[in-house]
Amino acid sequence: MIGDELTAGGTTTATRVSPGGNLSVDRMPAHWLMARLGKRVLRPGGREATRWLLDRARIDGTDDVIELAPGLGATARELLARGPRSYVAVERDAAAVSATEQVIEEMIAGARAVEARVVKADASRTGVADESASVVIGEAMLSMQPPRHKQAIIHEAARVLRPGGRYLLHELAVVPEDIAPSLHAQLEKDLSASIHVGVRIGTPSQWREWLEAEGFALEEVHLLPMRLLEVDRLLQDEGLARTARFAWNEARTVAAMTFRAALWCALAAWGYRLIRRDRYA
Ligand SMILES: C[S@@+](CC[C@H](N)C(=O)[O-])C[C@H]1O[C@@H](n2cnc3c(N)ncnc32)[C@H](O)[C@@H]1O
Repeated sequence: MIGDELTAGGTTTATRVSPGGNLSVDRMPAHWLMARLGKRVLRPGGREATRWLLDRARIDGTDDVIELAPGLGATARELLARGPRSYVAVERDAAAVSATEQVIEEMIAGARAVEARVVKADASRTGVADESASVVIGEAMLSMQPPRHKQAIIHEAARVLRPGGRYLLHELAVVPEDIAPSLHAQLEKDLSASIHVGVRIGTPSQWREWLEAEGFALEEVHLLPMRLLEVDRLLQDEGLARTARFAWNEARTVAAMTFRAALWCALAAWGYRLIRRDRYA
């Protein structure tokens, strides 16, 4: 099992969000590929894990919330629905910034005034004032940071939190605790190669060490299996219509990639025959 959860004013834009920019589908990070295919929940434990976290966070009108790496804004929607006093998202991808701004615009339209905005920045340098938040949340983003950057982001979370603040994490973990180091390294290597993102993930006790090194005391840990693309999880996270669209888009993408590969093979074989004919004519 490698999936788990560790408890651990917008502007109006009408632009179509195209996460992953102009990368080709066979090279782009898996989260952007899933987003392109229509998936909105891009974290390993799905909505179930997010709800578990948010229920424990007990967010209300006295909370100032910072979300690191909101992606397409699915958790932003749930956070804003809980009516915090303020919400700041920090995201480095321009398409994700605009997706989250759109969510903010929808969620605060007509509602009572909530101060909400998105900062385009790296999560290790948010630009937000010291001790300005009571809650920091980050899902499916620390796992994809190299060790020093991961530690810098945890340090930044500690800096922006007020004393007694809560840091909520939803990330990947490796079990069992006594996994052979070579297998752990192989797992990270294989996962990085298949999802096109360099993942560095700890066992639950390694995560604890990384958090404690920045002064956090771990309150609760909840482990779930990684089932992001299982049909029942897809239905739970995305609903029937979006799951069907995702499956259709996936089939079309695989067909297009297969067609492109076949075309390249045919062209290469044709070129090879031409060269041979010229050489032996
Ligand atoms: C797998 S997606 C998760 C998005 C969202 N948290 C969710 O669970 O649906 C990873 C997100 O992290 C963002 N990200 C990755 N590293 C980041 C960093 N160092 N600073 C800010 N955002 C980052 C990416 O742009 C992307 O939006």
